[in-house]
Amino acid sequence: MTDVDAFPLPRACPYSPPPRLAELHRDAPISRVRIWDGSTPWLLTRYADVRAVLADRRFSVDPARPGYPARGAAGRGRRTGRGSFISMDGPEHTRLRRMLISEFTVRRVEALRPAIERTATELLDELTAGPQPADLVARYALPLPSIVISELLGVPYEDHAFFEDRARAMLDDAAGDEANRAATAELARYLGTLLHRRSGDDLLGRLSAEQVATGALSRADAVATAILLLVAGHETTANQIALSTAFLLDNPEHAKAFRTAEGPPSAAVDELLRLLTITHFGRRRVATADVRLGDVTIRAGEGVIAAADIANRDPREFADPDEVDFARSPNHHLAFGHGEHLCLGHHLARLELHIALTTLMQRLPRLRLAVPTGELPFRHTHPIYGIDRLPVTWD
Ligand code: HEM
Repeated sequence: MTDVDAFPLPRACPYSPPPRLAELHRDAPISRVRIWDGSTPWLLTRYADVRAVLADRRFSVDPARPGYPARGAAGRGRRTGRGSFISMDGPEHTRLRRMLISEFTVRRVEALRPAIERTATELLDELTAGPQPADLVARYALPLPSIVISELLGVPYEDHAFFEDRARAMLDDAAGDEANRAATAELARYLGTLLHRRSGDDLLGRLSAEQVATGALSRADAVATAILLLVAGHETTANQIALSTAFLLDNPEHAKAFRTAEGPPSAAVDELLRLLTITHFGRRRVATADVRLGDVTIRAGEGVIAAADIANRDPREFADPDEVDFARSPNHHLAFGHGEHLCLGHHLARLELHIALTTLMQRLPRLRLAVPTGELPFRHTHPIYGIDRLPVTWD
C-alpha cells in the first residue's frame, strides 16, 4: 500500500479540519492512512461510522493490543504499564470510572459555578490591571481550568508551572518519546506523594480514604487516575478557551453573534466545541472481532482512527456544517467522544467554557488579537489542538 495518505494531515485554516480530510470524507469516507510506524489503520470520517465504532464494544482502547494505532512509541510503551482507565476496556474500565462518576454529576459541577465565576473575574481584574499586549493563554485560558481542577483534586495550585509543563510534555508528539515518558514519570511521582498525604475533603483525599485505604483501588491505579484527571482537566479546556477566543476575535461577526446568542447557555459553547474539535488526531481503537462497516470489513486486530473533527462537519448529521450557528439544535457533536469513554468531565468543561467565554466577551468587548493570525503558535503537533500563546490588546 504505497498510495495512502500520511496521517495526521496538514491544516490549511487554523480553525478547520485539514482540506484533505474533507476530501476523504467526501470521496473515500472509510480509507487507510499511514501513521508514524508505517502501519496503515482505517480512517473513519463519517459521523455515523465514528459514532457506531465508539459505541461498539468490539473495538478496544487498549494500546497493549497488537494493531492498536498508537500516536507514538511512548503510547505503545504503555503496553508494559497499566495506564489509566481511558485506555482500559470492559469491566475494569467501568469499575474505575464508576468510582468518580458522583464527582462529576451536573449537581456537583453546578455547585462549583460561583467559585469558577469568581476566578474568571479575578483573573480578568489582574489582566486588565497589567500591561498590553498580554498573553491570554498564560493570564486567563490556562489558569482558569488549572485552578478549578487543582482545587477539585486537592493539588496545590502553587505547583502549577510544574504540572502544566509536564502535562503538556507528556502528550506532545514533537517532544519525543523519551520526553513523553519522563514527564509522565515525574507526574506519577508528584501525584503519588500527594495521594499518600491527602486525607482532606477533596477528590484525591476521598479517593485515598475511600478507595485506596479499603483496597478497592491499587496505589498504581490511583496515581494513573490522578494523572488522567489533572491532565485532562486543564489541557483540553485551556486550549478550547484559547482557540475559541482566537476564532471569535478573528471573526467579528461570530463574536457579535456569540455575545447576543439566545437559547440554552451551552448551545453557543457546543457549537464552538463542534467546529473546533480540539482532539484532532482522532479517537484510536483496535478491532477485537471482524466488523462490517458500510461496504468494508474491519478485521480483528486492525486499527481504527475515528476522526471526530471531520465527522462533526458531516452534512448528513449537521445542516450547513461549516456554518456557525450558535443556536444549533440538536447538536449531538462528538467533541467529547461517545459511548463508554464519553468525556467524564463534559459537564465541568461546558460550565468552564461558558463562564470563561461569556465573562471575557462581556467584560472586554473591544478585545483584539495583537498579532496577525498567521503568527499565532497553533499546536499542530500536539494531540490536543489549540494555541500556546494568544497575545491580545483591548481598550
Ligand atoms: C475523555 C474531550 C475536558 C476528563 C475524553 C474524551 C474526549 C474528551 C474526546 C474521549 C476519549 C476517548 O474516547 O478515547 C474533552 C474536551 C474537553 C475535556 C474537548 C474540554 C474542552 C475534560 C475535563 C475533565 C475531563 C474538564 C475533568 C477531569 C476526562 C476523563 C476522560 C475523558 C477522565 C476518560 C473517560 C473514560 O475513558 O471513561 N475527553 N475533555 N475532560 N475526559 Fe475529557
